[in-house]
Amino acid sequence: MQEEDTVAENATAEYPIVVEGLVNRFGDQTVHDGLDLTVRRGEILGVVGGSGTGKSVLMRSIIGLQAPAGGDIRVFGRSITDRAPDEVLGVRDRWGVLFQGGALFSTLTVGENVEVPLKQFYGDIDDKLRHEIARYKVMMSGLPEEAVAKFPAELSGGMKKRAGLARALALDPELLFLDEPTAGLDPIGAAAFDRLIAELQETLGLTVFLITHDLDTLHEICDRVAVLADKRVIAVDTVPNLMRLDHPWINEYFNGPRGRAALTAQALDELRRHMDKPVAANAVKVLDNAPQRGA
Ligand SMILES: Nc1ncnc2c1ncn2[C@@H]1O[C@H](COP(=O)(O)OP(=O)(O)OP(=O)(O)O)[C@@H](O)[C@H]1O
Ligand SMILES: [Mg+2]
Repeated sequence: MQEEDTVAENATAEYPIVVEGLVNRFGDQTVHDGLDLTVRRGEILGVVGGSGTGKSVLMRSIIGLQAPAGGDIRVFGRSITDRAPDEVLGVRDRWGVLFQGGALFSTLTVGENVEVPLKQFYGDIDDKLRHEIARYKVMMSGLPEEAVAKFPAELSGGMKKRAGLARALALDPELLFLDEPTAGLDPIGAAAFDRLIAELQETLGLTVFLITHDLDTLHEICDRVAVLADKRVIAVDTVPNLMRLDHPWINEYFNGPRGRAALTAQALDELRRHMDKPVAANAVKVLDNAPQRGA
């Protein structure tokens, strides 16, 4: 029995999120039907799928905001599905979420937004320390210190995303959920946000569940990508392996014109990293004329 417990604990540590046979319905619309997904510790898992395939609903199910019609979801080994979200305390403060669209409180400053989860989970921290933690998270998300006192309406789209990220990082989470973090950003802003996510993942050892439509993001920072289609996760693999699969949506997505442009951009980046080599420098000249991110 003891041995079994150890095996279970090891599995839990290795796979912080396990979704089995998930079913979600709205009226007579079935969004998920027997969806399975396992997220590995320390990976950046990209989640893709056509609009309306249920990516956001999947994320909401995993964080306990959407009660599924069937199946089981375990986060850090605890079942989310048979409890109300408030009962999943002890798990909830181990994740941070950046919702699609940001969802900052418009009447609160950026700093106060970041303080919301701190107040909720660590009510006894004194004000000064709480302000200090919030300021630190804001700067960690790549915003200038002045942003702490600004209201969301005073920020650009990219800054709002970073403010949302600061709030998601407030509790030093082990798991980070990001729903379309680069949507609406210009290509340079999106690339900078990707780098920030990759850096944070590495320094903080995060496991990242990243919903995105952004092919460059998938190529550049995701360790694996889960594809949602036909109400299930039809494949989870590295981008190169997914590109070899024979599925119409996957083919169209990764091998269509935008997919190819993203691949070229990534090859270009790779070569730039080896610019000291003359052959690479020449190749870059040729590739420089190829389509770039956002093209
Ligand atoms: N609260 C809800 N009530 C009723 N239907 C819902 C609700 N939430 C989502 N849906 C439906 O579930 C389906 C999946 O929605 P979801 O938001 O997960 O899509 P998505 O894959 O995130 O799409 P997008 O890429 O556009 O963000 C959609 O058809 C949507 O209309
Ligand atoms: Mg969505």
